[in-house]
Amino acid sequence: MRQRVTTGVSILDKMLNNGIPEGNQVALAGSPGVGKTLTAFEFLYKNAKAGNRSILFSLEEDPDQIVENARDAFTDFKDIDALIGNGMLSVEGADIKDTIRGGGRGQDGEMNYVFSSATGQIAQSIKAHGATRIVIDSLTTFKLLVNDSLIYRMLSLNLLSLLKNLKVTSILTLEVQTLSRESLKYQPEFFIYDGIIALYSTPEERNRIHSLEVLKMRGTKHSFKTVPYVISNNGITPLISVDNVL
Ligand SMILES: Nc1ncnc2c1ncn2[C@@H]1O[C@H](COP(=O)(O)OP(=O)(O)O)[C@@H](O)[C@H]1O
Ligand SMILES: [Mg+2]
Repeated sequence: MRQRVTTGVSILDKMLNNGIPEGNQVALAGSPGVGKTLTAFEFLYKNAKAGNRSILFSLEEDPDQIVENARDAFTDFKDIDALIGNGMLSVEGADIKDTIRGGGRGQDGEMNYVFSSATGQIAQSIKAHGATRIVIDSLTTFKLLVNDSLIYRMLSLNLLSLLKNLKVTSILTLEVQTLSRESLKYQPEFFIYDGIIALYSTPEERNRIHSLEVLKMRGTKHSFKTVPYVISNNGITPLISVDNVL
């Protein structure tokens, strides 16, 4: 059996029959505010704490802001600063932010160049740090830059094969506007990932319920359950018992 990598979230590990198969490139999809960045941060924090070098590449949000939000949300994660200090965990920006601010979509040829130079930077940084756990937050930023959806898929495939060659285990966040489970499952670009974890935000009469589901994970059997969660001081926390999720 392939080695497993913890997601950092114990119920999610259980749903994956012991974590993400090592070397998988996993999409974490959900609508804005549902907890993608924080879930991805928890993945890296727990892996860094266990001795695996981890990097979050932020394509949009200011890296310092990401760390500050994580510190605020996860007050029980006492080692964030120590892990950043000793280089086990790093949160980096990427240059494409300026391209987006400077006018957004351009010719696809030009955007290919931006995409390739950003992925080149990512690869270089992974090698320089010897990192094995990676987050790219969010890949949707790239999608906004590329007009043609086929080109976007091809560029995404290039990025995934680059990550695969570097033998890292990654979570790539994807912002989807839809709330519907059915339409989420069949986005064409989803087929390129080794795994897909969906975070839903479902409106109820006077409330909004967040829940998570594993839609796909190559290399393992996994749960078909949808598990409600909250974001609490000590991480992503399920609202149901961990028994019976597989
Ligand atoms: N300090 C906090 N305590 C509890 N929940 C928080 C805290 N800060 C943010 N959140 C929750 O996390 C959400 C943002 O999470 P984030 O991972 O940034 O979402 P996404 O990346 O999916 O847009 C907020 O909408 C809020 O519900
Ligand atoms: Mg986010």
